[in-house]
Amino acid sequence: MPAKKATKPAVAAPDAEKDTVAYEVRGRIAWVKFNRPDKRNCMSPALNRQMMRVLDALEYRDDVGVLVLGGEGSAWSAGMDLKEYFRETEAAGLGAVRQSQRESYGWFRRLRWYQKPTIAMVNGWCFGGGYGPLFACDLAFAAEEAKFGLSEINWGILPGGGASKIAAELLSFRRAMYHAMTGEMIDGRTAAEWGLVNEAVPLAKLEARVAEVAAMLLEKNPVALKATKDAIRRVREMTYDNAEDYLVRAQEAANSFDNDGRKEGIRQFIDEKSYKPGLGAYDASKRSSG
Ligand code: ACO
Repeated sequence: MPAKKATKPAVAAPDAEKDTVAYEVRGRIAWVKFNRPDKRNCMSPALNRQMMRVLDALEYRDDVGVLVLGGEGSAWSAGMDLKEYFRETEAAGLGAVRQSQRESYGWFRRLRWYQKPTIAMVNGWCFGGGYGPLFACDLAFAAEEAKFGLSEINWGILPGGGASKIAAELLSFRRAMYHAMTGEMIDGRTAAEWGLVNEAVPLAKLEARVAEVAAMLLEKNPVALKATKDAIRRVREMTYDNAEDYLVRAQEAANSFDNDGRKEGIRQFIDEKSYKPGLGAYDASKRSSG
C-alpha cells in the first residue's frame, strides 16, 4: 500500500471499506487488487464503493500509465457477494438493490472507459459478476490454472450485470450458449482459446508477463492509447461507414488535444475584456503570449 499522507489520505473511505481493495504504484503501473481473499474476492457493496474510490484516485495521476487489476489470494473474483450484494440488499428493498447495482455497474463502466490502459491479471477463480471487470479491462491475461464460469445458472439466475452481453461479445454464439446454459467451468488455457482473455501463462509467470505487456504500453503515446482503446470499443456497434466517420473525427480530436483555442476565448473575455461570449466570438487571430 502507498504511504498515506497524515492530513489527506489518498483514498478517503470508511474503515470497514478501505481494505476491500489494495493498490500500489510501482514503475508507473498501478497494481490494484480485489482484496477479500477470505471471501474469494467476491464483490460486496463495500468493495464496489471502494473500487470506485481507488479508480478515481488513480485515473489522472501523472505517475500512473497503466492499471492492472488482480486478485489477492486464490481468486481473481468469485463474482458478486451472494450474501451482501444479493440477499442483504434484497431484504432491504428495491431501493437498496438498485443502489448496489448502480455501485457495481458504475465502476465497471468507469473501468471500460478508463483514461489509462487497463489489464486484467486473472490469477484464479473468476465467476459471474467477475466478467464485468474482466471485459472492462482492455486486455486480459490469465493463469493457466485460473477457472472461469458463468455459474449463475447453477444457483438459479440468468447471467446479469452485463455477463450475458459479455459472453455474447467475446465468445462465439455456440460457446456463449454452452458456457451460460451449463455453468461448466473452463480453465485459463481454454479461456484464451475461446477469446475470453488474450493469453494464458503458468501462474508463476503471470505477473512478469503482465509487467512486460504494461511496459510496452508505457512506451506509447498516452493520447493515442486512450483514443485507440475507445475506438475499438465504439466501432464494434457501428456500421462500417459510421465507424469510418467516427475514426476520422476521433483522430482529429486526438490531434488537437492540446488545442488551446478555448483558453484564448476565456482569456479575451475574463482578462482582456475585449469581447462578450454571449454577444459574439473571440478574435481567433490573437494568440495568448502566455
Ligand atoms: N458470495 C458470497 N460469499 C462467497 C462467494 C460469493 N460469491 N464466494 C465465496 N464466498 C465465501 C464463502 O461463503 C466462504 O465464506 P466463509 O469462510 O465465511 O464460509 C469463503 O468465501 C470461502 O469460500 P469457499 O467456498 O470455502 O472457498 P473454496 O476455495 O473452497 O471455493 C469457490 C471457491 C469455488 C469460488 C466457491 O467459493 C464458490 O463457488 N463461490 C461462488 C462462486 C459463484 O458462483 N459466484 C456467483 C457468480 S454469479 C454472480 O456473480 C451474479
